[in-house]
Amino acid sequence: MGPSATDREDTEVAESQIAVHWREEDYYYPPASFVEQANASDPAILERFGEENFPECFEEYAELLNWDKRWDVILDTSNPPFWKWFVGGRLNASVNCVDRHLETSADKAAIVWVPEPEDQETKTMTYQELHDRVNEFAALLQDFCRVKTGDRVTFHLPMLPELPVSMLACARLGVIHSEVFGGFSGAACGERIADSQSRILVTMDAYYRNGELIDHKAKADEALARAQEQGIEVDNVLVWRRYAGEYHSESPMVEGRDFFVDELLAQYRGKKVEPVSMPAEAPLFLMYTSGTTGRPKGCQHSTGGYLSYVAGTSKYYQDIHPDDVYWCFADIGWITGHSYIVYGPLALGTTTVMYEGVPTYPDAGRPWRIAEKLGVDIFHTAPTTIRMLRKLGPDEPGKYDYKFKHMTTVGEPIEPDVWRWYHEVVGKGDAVVVDTWWQTENGGFLGSTLPALQPMKPGSCGPGVLGIFPVVYDEDGEVVPAGSGRAGNICIRNPWPGIFQTIWGQPERFVETYYAKYCRDESSNDWRDWPYFAGDGAVEAADGYFRILGRVDDVINVAGHRLGTKELESATITVSDIAEAAAVPVVDELRGRAVEMYVSLKPGIEPSPEIAKAVTKAIETEIGKIARPKNVWIVADMPKTRSGKIMRRVIAGISNFADVGDTTTLANPEIVDEIRRYVQNEKMNRGEVPRELSAQEKEEIAAFGRAE
Ligand code: WTA
Repeated sequence: MGPSATDREDTEVAESQIAVHWREEDYYYPPASFVEQANASDPAILERFGEENFPECFEEYAELLNWDKRWDVILDTSNPPFWKWFVGGRLNASVNCVDRHLETSADKAAIVWVPEPEDQETKTMTYQELHDRVNEFAALLQDFCRVKTGDRVTFHLPMLPELPVSMLACARLGVIHSEVFGGFSGAACGERIADSQSRILVTMDAYYRNGELIDHKAKADEALARAQEQGIEVDNVLVWRRYAGEYHSESPMVEGRDFFVDELLAQYRGKKVEPVSMPAEAPLFLMYTSGTTGRPKGCQHSTGGYLSYVAGTSKYYQDIHPDDVYWCFADIGWITGHSYIVYGPLALGTTTVMYEGVPTYPDAGRPWRIAEKLGVDIFHTAPTTIRMLRKLGPDEPGKYDYKFKHMTTVGEPIEPDVWRWYHEVVGKGDAVVVDTWWQTENGGFLGSTLPALQPMKPGSCGPGVLGIFPVVYDEDGEVVPAGSGRAGNICIRNPWPGIFQTIWGQPERFVETYYAKYCRDESSNDWRDWPYFAGDGAVEAADGYFRILGRVDDVINVAGHRLGTKELESATITVSDIAEAAAVPVVDELRGRAVEMYVSLKPGIEPSPEIAKAVTKAIETEIGKIARPKNVWIVADMPKTRSGKIMRRVIAGISNFADVGDTTTLANPEIVDEIRRYVQNEKMNRGEVPRELSAQEKEEIAAFGRAE
């Protein structure tokens, strides 16, 4: 799948700019108090997970779980790149996350849930209670909804304990759950229901966000209408209620279709459901993410490999011990929440904290009050949250008496400056920080420092994690050597247990997107011939640490949320006046990147602010408020190649006041100056001129759309 002739022309500029000077940051070392207690403090672990011990090394992760039957084969590569892990093994994920802890820890807190309104009480669910609730809901699904092993059930649930309960109930039955982020629109949820062919939707009437009780059930009606347009009829909508017995939604309950879970559960009080012993290779869940086409990708994760991988990485990289109070401040609607709020921590039998609302509600001291009150000692969040908390409450952490031993950052590149505030102010100079690089597709971490054994370096995630062997390739598949100062595409040379199994219903796209680019021999079933293409640009320093630059495909990472340009563009052209649309990233101080839309209008249509507003509205309806564009620019025409392809790199350069690269190969080069004058003048008038971009950011903007 070599790049075509036009792609070549398009990439030349980016390539020639690649030799940038990267300033190396200093190392920070973990405090002795951390090293003494760390799960991974003996350097022998690095040898155990050395390449010569692959794939056997991963048995160490699998052995953290209880298996009904041990595996026969560690890694089956007979049908590349559809790798199979722990083949022949059988287990149940809910048993591993709940039942097996009852003997020693029935009364221990499994989930501590903090509601957003500060005057409402924090709720603690012990492992015993979690067990009871998972069984009751599993009984309901099985008996009332008649779901069977292998069926898909879609959730559109906010951050309430009902979400992990629902996930684990499905896992108990071998039913594949597919949680759609609560902030996504009803239409986006409907697309995912249809794609996964779910007959059941589990939702909630309402939840708190920024002080407001938001009507959420209304989205279920939109979702079902959208799914129906695509030929999928949902039989039942199960509605959990934020306040049991009270309904806080304007949306009517549809007779025979919609049911309140708390009412149905009355029949299942105290019911126990035998866990289904699942093959290691059975899918545990789907998690949808964005890619280069409009159709979202349902990343299918396995039971045995996935659970082993999140248990292992939670143990060594999150350094979770059973007596820790661990708070991952992410939404379970994203992969981080699945792996590092629910499955990883619960598999290890720890206490996991969940928070309903926004970080700065009612003020920027909230997270630190929660940490102080609950005795949180491991804290996990994203750069966008860190930036926001720094901006609104730079001195707040010092006012509270909490002590973190360990902190994580995930989801976007973190600026060294922001990293230092996190370390010095939030971590009080005393917590180790891991910058974990990975993706929805990966199940768990790919790049990070091992907290007691490898020093931290702000802005770099670190080396590949245990058993993961990354490499940076150029466009021709040549290795870009460590320390060369050149950027390229980061790939993983080997399979690992947490890697997703396929894209639900789109196996060709799975092979094409992630493996075709650097596959050396399609007939080979040696994993060495099938490097995994992550779609991120990266630079490897001489010490083997990777600095992740961001996406090289058509994905924009807004506040840690992956948005596909095609999805944004399809939403935009639902506005009838619009002829063409292009989405580009713009550097944003809080959200990392924001979206800007460029649109051209159909002949005879005059530009107006109403059209721009209609675009924003369409994006909110089709995707959700998180995707709302920062600006909508109405232009006379888009810069295009002679083959008619919109050059997003050029408009991304304009939006960011960066170099637009070579424009001589465009079919309409004159349009570039016109757009630049208009957009940059407007931005100057609005005070939106970004600061001078770092070498890293320039690199990312110049590479935007390269993998198209
Ligand atoms: C980006 C989130 C820099 C990256 C777990 C990746 C990061 C995409 C980091 C995946 C990090 C994630 N440093 N960039 N530590 N972590 N990314 O699928 O571009 O929501 O490809 O998974 O986020 O986002 P996703």
